[in-house]
Amino acid sequence: MNLAAGDTRAAIDVLRARHGDAFVFGFGAIRFHWLIGAEANRFVLQERAGAFRNREAYRFLEPIGGPTALIVSDEPEHLRRRRRVQPAFHRQRVDTWTERAVDAFEAWSRTVIGRGTVALQGALRGVVLDLVIDVLLGPGTRTRHPGLHRDLASMMAFANQPFLAQLFRVPLPGTPWWRFLAARRRVDEVLYAEIARRREHGADDDSVVSLLLRSEGEGAALDDAELRDQAVSLVSAGFDTTTAALTWCAWLLCDEALRTRVADDVAALDPATAAAHPTIDALWREALRLYPPAPAILRVTAEDVLWRDVHLTAGALVGLSTFHTHRDAASWREPTSVRLERWAGDDGPWSAPRDPFAYLPFGHGARYCIGAGLARTLAGAWLSVMLRSARWHALDPANVKPVGTTLSPPRGLPVRFEPYGASGAD
Ligand code: HEM
Repeated sequence: MNLAAGDTRAAIDVLRARHGDAFVFGFGAIRFHWLIGAEANRFVLQERAGAFRNREAYRFLEPIGGPTALIVSDEPEHLRRRRRVQPAFHRQRVDTWTERAVDAFEAWSRTVIGRGTVALQGALRGVVLDLVIDVLLGPGTRTRHPGLHRDLASMMAFANQPFLAQLFRVPLPGTPWWRFLAARRRVDEVLYAEIARRREHGADDDSVVSLLLRSEGEGAALDDAELRDQAVSLVSAGFDTTTAALTWCAWLLCDEALRTRVADDVAALDPATAAAHPTIDALWREALRLYPPAPAILRVTAEDVLWRDVHLTAGALVGLSTFHTHRDAASWREPTSVRLERWAGDDGPWSAPRDPFAYLPFGHGARYCIGAGLARTLAGAWLSVMLRSARWHALDPANVKPVGTTLSPPRGLPVRFEPYGASGAD
């Protein structure tokens, strides 16, 4: 166990074996009260959800998404903002983005597969960021503001540093924080200009921001600063997590037996409905079970709270681990083996537990991920393109151990592609 490298996940395994489901672990002044397993998740996210707050727990995200982003909003403002944003992610709307995603991934695959050897996650970042920008702001935005992609990517790069490095915020020229502030200034200029333009000339495209500008909904409408915060925080919440999830799906498909089974099942897969195909759905769920891109959910107690015999005083920083919940032998048979049959819905010996708190890659309840459907649609589109285009092999399979705060394969999963023939046949 290398705690110097911040291997929180290995430390949690050791501490849980020693102390049970509740223990304190952190770095320096930052002390996390970890509560591990389905029961703890139910307690924090459902039974006593009102006793926990988000803002203090996710304050480190505020420089990116701003103070009114959903993830850092608490009630009653959280509910008002969520009611405004949620309609933009309704299933029927999300489905209309499939075709755009398939086109983008087809163009991407023609370039990337031809390169032969590629660090997959890094190669996916660009196309996923473009898609997320198009969905949120409308495709014309990238043409009007060619620097937007680069500036958003540079803001996200700051957020992808190790947690402790992100706390180093000295505005000296050349430091990551300096570059972050400069990129954020340019992004904000673009977003406020786009909002003003749409307010003046009409918000008539199908982007999320235009829908938010047009929407009537309940409660006070979002003002310009709230719109800016929703746009940036949705990009930041959605882009890296989705890229990591696609990469983990690709990692599972490096297993030749699984790949053959999936490819046989999904022959002639219709990209428009790929995400709903039972085999693709099972692959997606199993990838998110073993490698949840958001491996922890954080909260701060708003009052004194008692869980089992654990006293948490008001202001305690609490961590729930989706990663450990999804690998908990109390809920999952042979937790570390990949088994699509867990998701067959047949009450067979491998069936996933029915308890929603044993599997929560997208969180739960009032805070359930607003972009879960979008992420799944992008995954279906990507897999439908990739499965008919190429086979791929991990270059260093023995060392694919999850790393990072957005759970990712080391070095972005280097793979070697073997393209299929021009006919698309194997
Ligand atoms: C595979 C991809 C994704 C994963 C694994 C993921 C995971 C999560 C999780 C676990 C939460 C709950 C956090 C908590 O309760 O503290 C969450 C919340 C959220 N996610 Fe996602 N997410 C993904 C994709 C997206 C996308 C594509 C978007 C939007 C474009 C998005 C937007 C959000 C927002 C706005 C919240 C906060 C909701 C609230 O507090 O009301 N996510 N996500």
